[in-house]
Amino acid sequence: MKIWLDSIENELYRILPKHIDSSWVRKIFTPEETLSEFNLFDAICEPARDLMYSGGKRWRPLLMLLSAKMLGGQEAFEKAMTLVPLVEMPHNGSLIIDDIEDQSDLRRGKPATHITHGIDLSINAGSMLFFLPTVALDEAPISDVKRLLIYQIYAKYMRKIHMGQGMDIVWHHDIEGIPSIESYETMSRLKTGCLAAMGSEIGAAVAVDDMTIIEEAGMIAETIGLGFQILDDVINLEKGNPGKNRGDDIVENKKSLPVILYANAHPEKHEHLFSVFRHAQSNGYGASKVEILALIDEIIGSGVLEQARKRAHDLFQGVLEMINEVYGPSQERDLLISMVEGFKEA
Ligand code: IPE
Ligand code: IPE
Ligand code: MG
Ligand code: MG
Repeated sequence: MKIWLDSIENELYRILPKHIDSSWVRKIFTPEETLSEFNLFDAICEPARDLMYSGGKRWRPLLMLLSAKMLGGQEAFEKAMTLVPLVEMPHNGSLIIDDIEDQSDLRRGKPATHITHGIDLSINAGSMLFFLPTVALDEAPISDVKRLLIYQIYAKYMRKIHMGQGMDIVWHHDIEGIPSIESYETMSRLKTGCLAAMGSEIGAAVAVDDMTIIEEAGMIAETIGLGFQILDDVINLEKGNPGKNRGDDIVENKKSLPVILYANAHPEKHEHLFSVFRHAQSNGYGASKVEILALIDEIIGSGVLEQARKRAHDLFQGVLEMINEVYGPSQERDLLISMVEGFKEA
């Protein structure tokens, strides 16, 4: 996996290098007159680079490479490797924009991109990361039929992710609205399952022509993404996500699965829950920390974290069964299974 991770970094640097040079400018823009703007372009790219190369786990490209290798062997793996920017770059772009939307100040243990570089340049850099990786697709050593199919997969999931993010935002605006568990899962499949599914579908698409297999690969990864998001929500309250503040989901008024389960089980606590949400949102993390931690203690005491964790584990169990149905035995299938087992440990 270490070699794969190194190759993933190389592919990302190929599309977004540390320093912009003339070959990059020609690749991205074509017109020669832009060649005098090196320094400016470097500065414009800096917020994107700053986050991209700050230590993401890279599990989405790993899912992509595993699905290519399991379904199409070494040749498909090598083609898929050139396409990893298609999944990792929009992921990083979505994090830059998500931190603005959620007013989160911390990402991967450092000030969020908009805190360091300002909201305007960060929105621009985040959106740029949705489009830059299409260069990798234009250059990929695949047939034009596959290129078109992968463009369609890419566009489909980029539409979906914005619907998922939008649902989450609408719910955090509406402090007193508690979505159903079913709606929460739909939203999480869209906002988080999406890019995992995109990666796996693209990995499968370079390997096989059968759309049923391509879509099954996507469904497996989407469900992994849903389980991952549920555990991310649990960990936010339990001990805090690495590189973020414990309980910052409360400041954001996020309708995470533990909060929905708690609200459903305790209607008598609604007023208290909404008042902590309101105070935390208007006073910020620092000033509301005591109140937030007290609410988290109540939520934990009600046992909902175990319920949410169980839902994630059941989803992962279903994923393991799907993996055994869709993929034949191989070293890569074992790696995928151990990745899923690793997510369960979180
Ligand atoms: C963070 O995803 C956003 C969520 C979907 C919860 P990751 O935890 O995969 O982010 P990085 O890339 O490893 O930082
Ligand atoms: C994760 O959003 C999904 C995307 C960024 C598309 P969240 O808001 O749930 O993730 P964190 O908690 O900020 O990492
Ligand atoms: Mg967020
Ligand atoms: Mg968010």
